Amino acid sequence: MIKGYKIVEIPSVIDERGSVSFVELGQLVNFAFKRAYWLYNIKTERGFHCHKKLKQFIFCIHGSVDCVLDDAKNRIIIKLDSPNKGLIIDQPLWREMKNFNNSACVVVLASDTYDEEDYIRSYQEFKKWTDCNL
Ligand code: TYD
Repeated sequence: MIKGYKIVEIPSVIDERGSVSFVELGQLVNFAFKRAYWLYNIKTERGFHCHKKLKQFIFCIHGSVDCVLDDAKNRIIIKLDSPNKGLIIDQPLWREMKNFNNSACVVVLASDTYDEEDYIRSYQEFKKWTDCNL
């Protein structure tokens, strides 16, 4: 069983005018966001890295995507296919994003600013790092 992630239903209000979903610090997520970014015009698989410290809250506001999570022993696939379904990753897991469908647009709220030093971009290195650090 993989630890360090959570699938959450994002609060939403749906009425005759349409839908609104919202994320507030202290409700669904217990880490502050210092950065937001989004993936769109996606032409290929993405991710293929681990973050050593960064925590992320990920949701797909249009279309769908398969998020692969891997703790160096086990692997699961989580499909984000609704704007009110979110994925929180708060431990260093290897992640891959595949099968982007229907002009998927993926939004990420991240606990810190961009830092290339926080990335492990080789799966072999991730396995070694996991053995030494977790
Ligand atoms: P990367 O995180 O490797 O993309 P993905 O995991 O989605 O495949 O980022 C792609 C490029 O964009 C890389 O050169 C770093 C840069 N980048 C920033 O400069 N700031 C950011 O906040 C992000 C997410 C990426």
